[in-house]
Amino acid sequence: MAFPADRPRRLRRTPALRRLVAETRLHPADFILPVFVREGLTEPASISSMTGVVQHTEESLLKAAGEAADLGLGGIMLFGIPAQRDAQGTAGLDPDGILNRSIRSVKATVGDALPVMSDLCLDEFTDHGHCGVLDSHGEVDNDQTLELYAQMGVVQAEAGADVVAPSGMMDGQVAVIRDALDAAGHHNVPILAYSAKYASAFYGPFREAVDSQLQGDRRQYQMDAGNRTEALKEVQLDLAEGADMVMVKPASAYLDILSDVAEISDVPVSAYQVSGEYAMIESAAANGWVDRKAVVLETLTAIRRAGATNVLTYYAAEAARWLQEDR
Ligand code: PBG
Repeated sequence: MAFPADRPRRLRRTPALRRLVAETRLHPADFILPVFVREGLTEPASISSMTGVVQHTEESLLKAAGEAADLGLGGIMLFGIPAQRDAQGTAGLDPDGILNRSIRSVKATVGDALPVMSDLCLDEFTDHGHCGVLDSHGEVDNDQTLELYAQMGVVQAEAGADVVAPSGMMDGQVAVIRDALDAAGHHNVPILAYSAKYASAFYGPFREAVDSQLQGDRRQYQMDAGNRTEALKEVQLDLAEGADMVMVKPASAYLDILSDVAEISDVPVSAYQVSGEYAMIESAAANGWVDRKAVVLETLTAIRRAGATNVLTYYAAEAARWLQEDR
C-alpha cells in the first residue's frame, strides 16, 4: 500500500482552514449594481425576464442608490429609459433628460460614498435601438456617432457622473470622449471602456429591461463569440486611447477572454454578468434545480478568479448582504 506524499486535503478540513488559504475572496466593493430608471413611471415596474429586477421610478432609484451606498458596493451603473425616442437619440444628450437628471439626483443622494457610473451609449435613446446613428444605408455610422458620444460624455460629467462607461463599441470612442472631457475641464472623470463586448444572445432580457425596439442585431459593431485575438486588440486600442478601466462582457461564457485581458491590462478589469446570465440562474433556481445563493456566489467567485477586479452584476446588493451575514 503506497500512501500519498502530498495531502492537499489537509488544508480543506475545516471552514476556517479553507478560509485561511482562499485564493479569491469576495467583498461588497467588488460589485457594481446596474440599475434602470424609466421616465414617467409612477411605480417601479417588474421585468418579467429578470425576476427581482425592476425599472425604477426616479424616486425608487434614489432608495436603491442609498442602499447600495450603505452596503459599501463598488458602484452603481445607471441606464435611462426615456419617454420619447428618435433617430438621433436626442434624449440622451439632453442635460435634463432622464439619464442625466438621474445622475444628478443620485449624486445628490450618495455624494462621494458611492461611485456613480453612467452608461454612455445611444441605444436606449434611439427609436431604431442601435448604439449609434444610422447612415443612408441603415448602418451605424461610426464617426457621426463619435461626435454624439463626445457630447454625451461631457453632459454626463457635468451632471456629476464619477465614471462614464461607453458601451457602444464604436472605433475610437475612448479617445474622442477623453478629448471632449479634457477640453471641458473634466480631466478627473475616468472612462470605464466596454472594450471586449461580444454580440451575445445573453443580452436578451436586457432588451425587455430597456424596452428596446432593436431591429436586426449589433454584429457590425460588437464582436463574434469565437474571437480572442480581436478582444486583445480592442483592449490594447482602448488602453492606448486612455481607458482608465476596461471591461469584458458577458462574463461567465467568456472567462478565458477575461483571463487573457487581465494578463495584458495595466488598468483594472471589469466583467459584466449580464441579464441572460442572471435570468438563467433565476429560472433554474426557481425550479429548485440549483441552490440560488451558492450558484450566484460561485459564479461571482469564478469571475473574480478569472481576473476581474470588479463585477457588474444584478446580484450586487444581495450578494453584499450575504457576505455581511456570513461574516
Ligand atoms: C448597450 C448595453 C447592452 C447591455 C449593457 N449595455 C445591450 C446590448 O449591447 O445589446 C446589456 C446588459 C445586459 O444584458 O445585462 N448600451
